[in-house]
Amino acid sequence: MTITFHLNGEQVSLPDSDPTTTLLDWLRDDRGLTGTKEGCNEGDCGACTVMVTDHSGAKALNACILFLPQLQGKSVRTVEGAAGPDGALHPVQQAMIDHHGSQCGFCTPGFVMSMVTAHTNGATDHNDQLAGNLCRCTGYAPIIRAAEAAAPEPVPSWISQDRSFIFSQISREEVADRGAEPPSSRPAAEPPSSLRPRSCDELAKAYAARPNATLIAGATDVGLWVTKQLRVLEEVIFLDGCADLKEITETEDGLYFGAMVDMNRVRAVLAPLYPSYAEMIRRFASQQVRAAATIGGNIANGSPIGDNPPALIALGATLHLRKGDNRRTLPIQDFFLDYGKQDRAPGEFVEGVSIPNQPDALRVYKLSKRFDQDISAVLGAFNVAVKEGTVTAARIAFGGMAGVPKRATAVEAALIGQPWSEATIQTAQAAFDQDFTPMSDMRASARYRLETARSLLLRYFADLNGAPEHVLEVRA
Ligand SMILES: Cc1cc2nc3c(=O)[nH]c(=O)nc-3n(C[C@H](O)[C@H](O)[C@H](O)COP(=O)(O)OP(=O)(O)OC[C@H]3O[C@@H](n4cnc5c(N)ncnc54)[C@H](O)[C@@H]3O)c2cc1C
Ligand code: FES
Ligand code: FES
Repeated sequence: MTITFHLNGEQVSLPDSDPTTTLLDWLRDDRGLTGTKEGCNEGDCGACTVMVTDHSGAKALNACILFLPQLQGKSVRTVEGAAGPDGALHPVQQAMIDHHGSQCGFCTPGFVMSMVTAHTNGATDHNDQLAGNLCRCTGYAPIIRAAEAAAPEPVPSWISQDRSFIFSQISREEVADRGAEPPSSRPAAEPPSSLRPRSCDELAKAYAARPNATLIAGATDVGLWVTKQLRVLEEVIFLDGCADLKEITETEDGLYFGAMVDMNRVRAVLAPLYPSYAEMIRRFASQQVRAAATIGGNIANGSPIGDNPPALIALGATLHLRKGDNRRTLPIQDFFLDYGKQDRAPGEFVEGVSIPNQPDALRVYKLSKRFDQDISAVLGAFNVAVKEGTVTAARIAFGGMAGVPKRATAVEAALIGQPWSEATIQTAQAAFDQDFTPMSDMRASARYRLETARSLLLRYFADLNGAPEHVLEVRA
């Protein structure tokens, strides 16, 4: 597979690269562009942030968990390309100097590239934009002041040209790319064979023929298999070229998300409909991870602590699976069979997920040790319908409480048909013991998990009754 993209204003074509080489390694080892730093090598610190522009716009991404084929047809800007060809500093670079935003400087290239991307997009929610960049010495106030100071400045011409390159040149390269042609056989020591289908149909054909291949969507999980677990992937299929899997469709019945919709887009679409779900996504990893992570990957990985599945279960979502030409659907909670085991046949993949229209009674509460960019210890999603003071329906699901994202059926049964009152909540709280036997791990003890799950039900009751329940809203 020849990979063609634009790097700091110049076209790059890589005919024979290993598809599991990360952009970070390639930049530093092959191109000598060492401005992009390696901190954690697992998507946590933001030191490796670069700006990647495609048809959908500019995104800040972590180069350490971004494989080269994911750049096909895109435009990459590293910190070396933040300043203009004549050396003129980007406004955020100048502002970082003016506001003393750097001390040791190790984190600075990553911050600058997150800031360049936010500036390009006109985003001024600086705390959220920079939540995925960690600094150990400067402290964040001078950096935020720099971001605020740069915000009114115009986007420099060398940055805005990245988009015109995509439209004029890369699209032709895309056509020349070999797409989903079968790979030639290779000796064992060679790089993994790889495919990059351009549509869901091509993917279905390719995966049915190679059920042992590893699908790579945003690579925010798979990237770590390579960088941290040092796993050698034999055969990989990149989903990034399947434009139809990135579609969001609004029908009379509800919303449909293609599997490749990234979490920032999911958040934007859900914000007016289910604000609590969108607010949870604001705390899902970081800007960089959300820009890569897909809703399909978050479901397919079957993680017991994935943040979407409990919310989707509470909304009564339907999962769409496909193998070859055969499609099937199932209620999303039925997909999660056991720890590490999902209802997915070899060669079958997640095509999308649909959410039925309904009045918004959803609340999603994410508990984690750190407010931003942390995996949930417990995540509770509640969706209860109350008519004339009586509970008529309840869908409640949790992450972090079992080996799979799991519905709290005993708690639901204790609520349905009962008056919507604190007494009913207290009775239902006792039912958590029947639904869950959580475990203790580094994120939380079993006791903490069970007690907070019970408390979250009370929080939901208070929330629906209009009492302030958010820790940032409650006042003494
Ligand atoms: C720093 C960091 C923070 C994170 N924070 C959070 C968090 O707060 N909450 C959270 O829930 N997760 C978090 N994650 C985990 C991860 O970002 C998510 O699970 C993400 O949604 C995975 O999606 P992806 O597209 O990157 O999947 P990938 O890494 O590409 O794939 C994940 C798995 O799913 C399979 N797969 C992908 N797409 C499909 C498909 N369409 N059909 C079938 N199989 C498929 C892959 O083969 C692989 O097994 C974090 C990760 C990092 C690195
Ligand atoms: S090196 Fe830390 S996020 Fe990439
Ligand atoms: S300036 Fe030293 S880590 Fe940020």
